[in-house]
Amino acid sequence: MKPKQIILHMLSQADGVVSGEVLSLELGVSRVSIWKHIKGLVQSGIPIVSSPKGYRLTHDPDSLLPWAFETRRDRIHYFPETASTMDEAMALARKGCPDFTVAVAQRQTRGRGRMQRIWLSADGGLYFTVVVRPDIPVMLAGLVNLAAAIDMANLLRSLLQVDAHLKWPNDILVDNHKICGLLSQMEAEGDQVAHMNIGIGLNVNNTPETEDPIAISLKVLLGRPVARREILVAFLEAFEKRILTFDPHGVIEEWRSGNITLGQKVRVITIKEMVEGTAVDVDVQGGLILRLADGTRQTVMHGDCFHQ
Ligand code: BTN
Repeated sequence: MKPKQIILHMLSQADGVVSGEVLSLELGVSRVSIWKHIKGLVQSGIPIVSSPKGYRLTHDPDSLLPWAFETRRDRIHYFPETASTMDEAMALARKGCPDFTVAVAQRQTRGRGRMQRIWLSADGGLYFTVVVRPDIPVMLAGLVNLAAAIDMANLLRSLLQVDAHLKWPNDILVDNHKICGLLSQMEAEGDQVAHMNIGIGLNVNNTPETEDPIAISLKVLLGRPVARREILVAFLEAFEKRILTFDPHGVIEEWRSGNITLGQKVRVITIKEMVEGTAVDVDVQGGLILRLADGTRQTVMHGDCFHQ
């Protein structure tokens, strides 16, 4: 662990103030250097108060720091700032982290979306990647992505009464504006999934709409700030249950009933080609089946889908 992470860990475990002396002994560095680390943490948005007795974390109802997640705390890896939680999660997964380990960031400097797009990741949004190890063949991995989107859309509806809809492959839209995007990476052992890292960016209290007219945030939509931790906890609960009792047919049925892509004329851009047609269904692997102008059918497994 880096010095700042050790300090945060110690402050989060403590039941009050931790003196500069205790921290400097633990880290084997001077008290001035501890003070500099604390200053850096405060600048990155961590609510630490200093007093002559030492340092203390203040109560933050929306803290994303591990201790705030109670029973999940050991599986939450918090980064005040990181390039991308996808990279952090990949490193954790390759080191053998347990199922449902989460890398969550206050902000990302190189947040990325599908098709090499940038994902705007300013303070206030919810940016995380969860590592899962479902016991399924690689050919069903696409359904895990659909399932993650279903669970997030369901909880936006139930927790916040937001009219969230699914757009293939796994975007979540409200009033045709994008509120949430999912990106996943997978490593396999033979034809079985070894781990999948599901990265989710949800616009919560950030305001991406100022830079991207397609985007919308919960704060703008609801006219008030929204607690990110509650959303993350609710998502992890639902998604964990889903993965432990994975039902491929159930996922497809649920996706069919909550989506706004089927029946639409769409253009799908993949790495290799552009396909236009009417979206008629999803197949058993979560691929989108299009009816083309000549009446033939084509299935696309990945890509960006534009409703026309
Ligand atoms: C998309 O819609 O293109 C996918 C966006 C995924 C963004 C999330 S934010 C957390 C994780 N870290 C990243 O760099 N990307 C994903």
